[in-house]
Amino acid sequence: MYRILKKTYLTPTVVRMEIAAPLAARNALAGQFVILRADEEGERIPLTIADHDAERGTVTVIFQVVGGATMALEAKREGDFVATLAGPLGMPTPVEGLKKVAVVGGGVGCAIALPVVKRLFELGAETTSIVGFRTAELAILEQEFLRYSSRFFLTTDDGSKGERGNVCAPLSRLLAAGERFDAVFAVGPLVMMKYVAETTRPYAVKTIASMDPIMIDGTGMCGCCRVTVDGKMKFACVDGPDFDAHQVDFDEAIARLKTYEPIEARARERHCNLYRAASQQAPARTKREEE
Ligand SMILES: Cc1cc2nc3c(=O)[nH]c(=O)nc-3n(C[C@H](O)[C@H](O)[C@H](O)COP(=O)(O)OP(=O)(O)OC[C@H]3O[C@@H](n4cnc5c(N)ncnc54)[C@H](O)[C@@H]3O)c2cc1C
Ligand code: FES
Repeated sequence: MYRILKKTYLTPTVVRMEIAAPLAARNALAGQFVILRADEEGERIPLTIADHDAERGTVTVIFQVVGGATMALEAKREGDFVATLAGPLGMPTPVEGLKKVAVVGGGVGCAIALPVVKRLFELGAETTSIVGFRTAELAILEQEFLRYSSRFFLTTDDGSKGERGNVCAPLSRLLAAGERFDAVFAVGPLVMMKYVAETTRPYAVKTIASMDPIMIDGTGMCGCCRVTVDGKMKFACVDGPDFDAHQVDFDEAIARLKTYEPIEARARERHCNLYRAASQQAPARTKREEE
């Protein structure tokens, strides 16, 4: 059992949780993830380690409430326990030796991008962060990115904050102006990462995408998380989650992610009903954290 030490809301549907997990905290590296279950019978939820503190023995995860399992996790309060937590899992993001890097994050993918920016910054790299959201209310982690970025760009689809448009526009401009990055990291929705890869391809800049296919065991045994990279089958949980974005078959990954949509919709509906029933009895929850 792993105690939830702190729970805050970054937006009404994005939650940050600090969890006591000393073993995972001692061994975590940027880009790795944990698989946790809110309750003994719950679904496994892979979540990136957004931050960790080896001394205090804590890992921090930031998650969007999208369906049944994340609703069950959101229902937990400070002082409650998550039933299981395995990790760190996956290969750390390859950051050593890079001097000048762009990190592109979309939506809640920014929670996954942040530890990479932080690690690069600590290693002395020049970091350009480009983060994008649909609208101002969904923007998260701006202060944290500013702290670890040499340059920072923020876009919203509707122009309600930062530059109107998507993350590819600033990236495109920088590349066209002659910026030469050692690497570009893309973390976010599959479609976004696909277009980041197409933006960097003509410049032959090494581009890494953080893939988040459905995972079950997280140890390379079930085969659920397979992605095709350079025509070969890879398991995101043990070979990734980071892969050469110019070699990833994004169209296949997008199609695979849609496979379970009807089942996910049913689970969401079931949890919504349970949540509605519970919240009629429960006291008001912690409100959105002011960043
Ligand atoms: C390595 C990795 C790291 C991730 N890190 C984060 C993170 O830091 N923050 C965050 O908000 N989300 C992260 N995710 C996605 C997160 O795991 C899913 O949003 C969550 O499992 C959804 O479960 P659900 O039952 O609430 O939603 P569901 O309604 O079941 O599904 C909603 C969507 O979530 C995805 N999903 C569902 N089940 C899984 C699963 N077992 N594994 C992977 N994706 C799934 C699918 O795209 C699905 O369409 C990560 C995924 C992976 C693989
Ligand atoms: S999650 Fe089972 S092989 Fe990767």
